[in-house]
Amino acid sequence: MSQATNQSWGGRFSEPTDAFVARFTASVTFDQRLARQDIQGSIAHATMLARVGVLTDEERDTIINGLTEIQGEIERGEFNWSIPLEDVHMNIEARLTDKIGITGKKLHTGRSRNDQVATDIRLFMRDEIDVIEAELVRLREGMIELADREADTIMPGFTHLQTAQPVTFGHHLLAWQEMLTRDHERLLDCRKRVNVMPLGAAALAGTTYPIDRHVTAELLGFDRPAENSLDAVSDRDFAIEFTSFASILLMHLSRMSEELVLWTSAQFDFIDLPDRFCTGSSIMPQKKNPDVPELVRGKTGRVYGHLMALLTLMKSQPLAYNKDNQEDKEPLFDAVDTVRDCLKAFADMVPAIEPKKGSMYEAARRGFSTATDLADYLVRKGVAFRDAHEIVGQSVAYGLKTKKDLSEMTLEELQQFSATIEQDVFEVLTLEGSVAARNHIGGTAPDQVRAAASRAREALAALKGDA
Ligand code: ARG
Repeated sequence: MSQATNQSWGGRFSEPTDAFVARFTASVTFDQRLARQDIQGSIAHATMLARVGVLTDEERDTIINGLTEIQGEIERGEFNWSIPLEDVHMNIEARLTDKIGITGKKLHTGRSRNDQVATDIRLFMRDEIDVIEAELVRLREGMIELADREADTIMPGFTHLQTAQPVTFGHHLLAWQEMLTRDHERLLDCRKRVNVMPLGAAALAGTTYPIDRHVTAELLGFDRPAENSLDAVSDRDFAIEFTSFASILLMHLSRMSEELVLWTSAQFDFIDLPDRFCTGSSIMPQKKNPDVPELVRGKTGRVYGHLMALLTLMKSQPLAYNKDNQEDKEPLFDAVDTVRDCLKAFADMVPAIEPKKGSMYEAARRGFSTATDLADYLVRKGVAFRDAHEIVGQSVAYGLKTKKDLSEMTLEELQQFSATIEQDVFEVLTLEGSVAARNHIGGTAPDQVRAAASRAREALAALKGDA
């Protein structure tokens, strides 16, 4: 066999691989990121092979010691990754044979790179999902605490980005929190389908050796072996599911980011973000830019791109393994990194949001945000809702002309539009009265916000790590 022919499969080849083709088909430049999981999987495989008598205990121990040393070489940056050896799997196996000789060549008994790579990615995803979940939990906790603290802080609520009705800042934060709750559930649900073991499917049809897949699954912490060998080596929908989760999460973070960016502007002036989350301009000395939320908003696009890449990668693929699947890794790795970093940025930043309460309050006051409360007041006094709507509309037109909020008008001014209005109207026209009146589950009343925050805290504690 020629030197340049791959030592793992070169037997039937009569000429070496074209140098460009070797580079073009190699994945080691990126899949070396799976080295830890690859070794973990190999150790479990060797352990199982010894358990069923395919390897001797001595061979198993030699293999495990060799792999453990290789793990050290990789961690210390001493490992020499080779492109002709194609991928992480063959690089590690070749090094093992270098180190321990012929016994190294027995490791691949009853296994194929097809079930090996599928196993590695699932182990990797499981590890990363756990890290991502921890950041998501940290973000949700910080958000719930801030919401609780700001349960009484009044701000305008918007529809069509026009001032609609007053809400509390705590209520607004808990709306974000609800989005994240669903993302958290989606992540844990995805983890269940990630945590199924392909190993034992071998190339596609299973293996003739008397393997015990339950042993390997247990050693690796998988919930169960995959049911069908053809599906096990070809399925990547767990990766699509993860990037779907990631896309929806980033969509949510982009919405929060957008609001943070708006709120830090001079035109809104609702919040301050500490300087450590912002940067300046090299030309305009007065600038303080909300880069972190802007960047999170921008990173949403690349995660959507990865979802489309993976969906398209899998589209129309016949069973079972196809080399196309090598293309799953880069989108997945980048999606994982992006999600983790965006969550970290948000988890650090959200508790540090400084609401500018005076300016939120003023904005709510200026926008006739209690107009609905006046209409509801009239309805309670027996006016039909459509008539009440008309009366309040006229009052607002008058307010716009005279530059007065409803609560700033005298009783006589208000009575021009309806004789039904009495002195007690002022209780409902204040912002505090307006929010306090929405006193039911899901409403913005401060007491409801505090109750919702404490329910959210309990639900989070129950969900956390619930995999
Ligand atoms: N590098 C390959 C991948 O990432 C490993 C599996 C290769 N299998 C094969 N039969 N060529 O998918």
